[in-house]
Order: sequence, then C-alpha cells, then structure tokens
Amino acid sequence: MTSTSSKPTRDLLFPDLSDSIEERIAWFQHQHRVEPLRHRPEYNLWEVFRYEDVQRVLKDPDTFSVTNKTHMGLPFSFGRADIQEHRFLRSFVARSFVPGNIEAHASDFAPMVDALLKPALASGRLEVLGDLGYPLMEHVIGHLFGLQIPGPDRFRQWSDQMFGQLVGIFQPDHAEVVGMLTDQLDQRKRKPTGDLMSALLQARAKDDRLPEEKIIHMCLDLVTAGNAPTSLLLSYMFARFCRNPEFYQALRSDPSLIPGAIEEVLRFDFSWFNLWRTARHDTELGGREIKAGSYIVVWDSAANFDEARFPQAHRFDITRSPNPHLTFGQGMYICLGLPLVRTLGRVVVERVVETFEEIRFDPERPMRSQEQMIDYVVSLDTLVSPANTTVSR
Ligand code: HEM
Repeated sequence: MTSTSSKPTRDLLFPDLSDSIEERIAWFQHQHRVEPLRHRPEYNLWEVFRYEDVQRVLKDPDTFSVTNKTHMGLPFSFGRADIQEHRFLRSFVARSFVPGNIEAHASDFAPMVDALLKPALASGRLEVLGDLGYPLMEHVIGHLFGLQIPGPDRFRQWSDQMFGQLVGIFQPDHAEVVGMLTDQLDQRKRKPTGDLMSALLQARAKDDRLPEEKIIHMCLDLVTAGNAPTSLLLSYMFARFCRNPEFYQALRSDPSLIPGAIEEVLRFDFSWFNLWRTARHDTELGGREIKAGSYIVVWDSAANFDEARFPQAHRFDITRSPNPHLTFGQGMYICLGLPLVRTLGRVVVERVVETFEEIRFDPERPMRSQEQMIDYVVSLDTLVSPANTTVSR
C-alpha cells in the first residue's frame, strides 16, 4: 500500500466500482445514506459522495485546490492552474466556447457528420469510435482551433494517451504532441494565421504572464482533453440504441427529445467519473473535519444519483427536467468544452436518426474496452440499416 506521504493514484479507488451500473448506483446510494464522506487515512484521502458536498467542494477553490489534482505528468495543465492564473488564462479561450459561438458552428458540423456516416450507408457497418467519434473530433478540433494534426491514427493515440494519463491508467508520454505543438507555435511566430494559437501569441506580446510553454500546454489541453470523453459519450449513446431499440425509435420519431437524451446519458453512463482536489487548510465538510493537505476525491458520478436532487435517480429518464448533473464538474473549473459537447452531440444524434432506420450490435464483433477500465470503450461495431423515409421533425 502507498504510504501517507506519497500521492495515491486513481485506480486505487476503482475496486469499489462494480462493472455493473445497477451495483454502482446501489453503492453510491449506500454511501449517501450511511457514509457520505469516507475517510481513507492510509491514502490521506477523503471521498465525497453527496450532491451538496460535491458541489460545495467544486465551488470553493479557495479551500479545495486543483493544483495537485491529477498525475498527468505534465509540467503545466490549464485545468490545474491556480485561481488567479486560471481566471487569466481562461479569459483567453472562453470566447471560443461561448454557447452561441459554438452553436453558430452547428451547420458546419452536420456535413462533417454526414461525410463520416456515408460509408456506413453502403457497407451497413459502423464502428462508432473509429469511424465516427475520433475522426469527427479531429475535424472539429482542426476546424475550431486551426491546428494541424498529422493523421487520424496519431490523433486518436494522443487523445487516448492524454485522457488515459488524466484518469490514471497510462504513464505520462506526451513528448511527441508537445513537440508538434511547439513546431506549430514556431510557425505562427514567423507567420501568424489568425487562429487561437496566433491570438495567444499576440496576447503574449502584451503580457508576460503568458509564457510559450503555457500557450503550448493550453493548446494541448484543448486539442486532446475532450476527444476521448466525447467519443465515449457517442459510444454510450449507440450502445443504448442497440440495447433498447424503442429508445432509438423514440428519438427518430421525436428528435426534440435528443438534447434531454444526451443529458441523461451524461448523467448515467459516466458513472465512473471522479474529480480530485486538495484541502489548502483545515476545514469542515459535511460535519467532518478535514485536515490541510488531505486529498479530496469528489464522486461527481455519485452526486448524479443522489435522490435529494434526482428523484427516482436509478431510472434512466430522458425527459428528466431539470437534470443538473455534475458530469462536467461545476464552478470555475467547469468543463470548457461543455457547449461543444452539447451542440456536437445533438448534431450527431440528429444526423444519425435521420440516416439510419435501425442500429444493432454486430454479433460477430463484440464491444471492446481498455483492459484497465471497462467504461473506456475502444471499439463498438454496429450494423446499421439506411432509413427509407424522412424522419418527422
Ligand atoms: C463528454 C465529454 C466531456 C466530459 C464528460 C468532460 C468533463 C470534464 C470535467 C468533469 C472537467 C472538470 C474537471 C475538474 O473540475 O477537475 C473538465 C474540464 C475541462 N474540459 Fe472537459 N469534458 C468533455 C469534453 C471536453 C471537450 C470536447 C473539450 C475541449 C474541446 C474539453 C476541454 C476541457 C478543458 C480545457 C477543461 C479544463 C477547464 C478549466 O479548468 O477551466 N472537455 N471536463
């Protein structure tokens, strides 16, 4: 076992997490009732399960710091920058992610999705991550940030690597992507292109709080951090379509249900997420005393099944309203990509329901996951039948 002085890794917590979603929900709700804060002194760590407590931690960065939050092994990460610096850095990129600005790209996203679905119309086969999720993210990230990405395979490798580092299943290995972004920074120094990296360089000329290394690592977060979870979201959605054809047909006949369906998949199927913080000073949380320096693992996924916030929390209900799930976090470090995930997710599902009448698991190619983590889907092969008629709108 790890000594109290060394930093625990996320996977030490996974033994509690069953592979079955029903058992996870039962465990989360048991914790809500019986032990909403769990102390693990051997790791100098507290786990937080209730919605109210999770929210309190995420919204109080003065007490619960992010600076120690992951073991990504990166010299700098935007999501780990402390309060002042984070505000300063986020102000540069926030504009690109304002919901209205992202929504304005929806009409660009639809043809990208159609082009990726087209081969499946002829072949009747679609592997959700390799044919749709990752290539779509590659086009979208290139489109939004103007960065060059050398080929789909490298893009997926990097995305998986960075997300795997973030969730603690891969050892750090990012020299190649950092090298590529450094080259692109050098190109833009010689010849600005008007994209995000050029804008950051321009800002740097006026403000020395933005060293080149930070520009590179901010771009690295934006280019790589969200691709795997967004592809996973699509795989979770498709897996539900295959398991529950009525769900798929409901979205086909009433696409206005799609945004609610995406929110409910986000609440339900990321039931393995947790976020890390460190207590800056002695404090109280949920009636317990937390010592300075303690690691805090907030189970945002457990909060998503707290009956105090989600009546009948165990029911998958796409008409749930409101649905204040915490899958994107909360407070000042809330996921920057949230509006992109919502808009892009909606566009993808709209195009899918219009294109295919039916989606089934391919019985010859079962769904595969990362060895270390069942929720990290690697491939999802489906059989699809083209829609003959136009879906009602
Ligand atoms: C389903 C997809 C996604 C999920 C579930 C997700 C989840 C999250 C969560 C929970 C956080 C907060 C971490 C914390 O508080 O410690 C976060 C932060 C972040 N996410 Fe996402 N994310 C997704 C997609 C994306 C995408 C597509 C992008 C970018 C294009 C992105 C970029 C970021 C960035 C830059 C941060 C750090 C924000 C900050 O510290 O200000 N994410 N994400």
